[in-house]
Amino acid sequence: MTETEITVLKPEILHQLIKKKLMKASLPEEAANEAANHLVFADACGIHSHGAVRVDYYAERIAKGGTTLHPNITFEKTGPSTGIVHGDNGMGHYVCNEALKYALEMVEESGLAFVGISQTGHSGALSYYVKKAAEEGYVALSMCQSDPMVVPFGGSENYFGTNPIAFATPCEGQPPVVFDMATTVQAWGKILDARSKQREIPDTWAVDKEGNPTTDPNAVNGLLPIAGAKGYGLMMMVDILAGSLLGLPFGKHVSSMYDDLTAKRNLGQMFLLIDPAKFTDPIAFQQRILQMVTELHAIKPANGFDQVYYPGELSKKCYDNYMAEGIPVATPIVDYLQSETVHFDQYGGKGAFAK
Ligand code: NAI
Repeated sequence: MTETEITVLKPEILHQLIKKKLMKASLPEEAANEAANHLVFADACGIHSHGAVRVDYYAERIAKGGTTLHPNITFEKTGPSTGIVHGDNGMGHYVCNEALKYALEMVEESGLAFVGISQTGHSGALSYYVKKAAEEGYVALSMCQSDPMVVPFGGSENYFGTNPIAFATPCEGQPPVVFDMATTVQAWGKILDARSKQREIPDTWAVDKEGNPTTDPNAVNGLLPIAGAKGYGLMMMVDILAGSLLGLPFGKHVSSMYDDLTAKRNLGQMFLLIDPAKFTDPIAFQQRILQMVTELHAIKPANGFDQVYYPGELSKKCYDNYMAEGIPVATPIVDYLQSETVHFDQYGGKGAFAK
């Protein structure tokens, strides 16, 4: 099989193309602009599973009515450090970015903010949000729900989503340290990639219909949690903090990404922002983080490794490089973005693992 061709685009051109396509699908400019900010960031960080590759899907959902075009986003403050943003199922990136603004105001006032987001759409790579908060000097945590495509430890039927966790902290004199991961061994996008390249997958990634480990990407019927029972516990925690706690559907009742694109998704997400000054000298805190990453860098690498990196360091290097030199995007995606086609009508009505 031949490798897909790659086109390198300047970040501002990629941004323009994504924004234009989403607006063509009828998303208002402000939301389209914010979604484009987010998707360009993801591609620039090398998180291609959450970048321009998703535009076709978003455009289809927007065009079919599964995203509220003019959401009435409201903030219900429930205490000095708590609140819920009701997203009215607007474009996920836009809703969550607006929610982050409320959380930032709250942490500035009270030193702590736990802000839940109810009724949002798919909100992309969570590092986008926690990095922004850490750039303002706060320690930040975010989690969100996603479609039920993961078998619980010891089970053969799917229950939880790939429920990601992202964490960021400011660090003296350098960009924030950002850790961001799905709670599954591999993101669904990696299985799709293996399918498209007709490659086997390791037997630690996913299971077939009977719940047995599989190396055939076409036989995948459920993803596996990271680290067995421990990852399973973490994804349950995410589902509770970003779903049940906000009164939202949980576990297998969470809506599917590709099922009914005319329906709203009603997903949940949360932000926890902490002002380090409430616990310690904030400058000394950031210096300790710098000392930590410096000491990690000084650790002798194991065989086969060039050095120890801190979480998010490679994404940051990738971001700096791509923002300066251009972002590689699969040529068929660029062709689509440049075309008059709004979407290819290829996602609606498909189950999570449909081929
Ligand atoms: P990943 O496996 O590529 O990376 C996980 C973490 O490990 C990152 O923080 C990365 O910086 C760190 N890392 C990787 N290599 C490293 C190294 N050599 N040294 C030190 N640290 C290293 O991430 P994953 O799990 O594939 O997630 C990808 C994205 O998908 C995330 O942005 C996540 O938020 C997003 N996601 C979003 C969902 C949604 O519904 N919105 C659902 C699931 C994932």
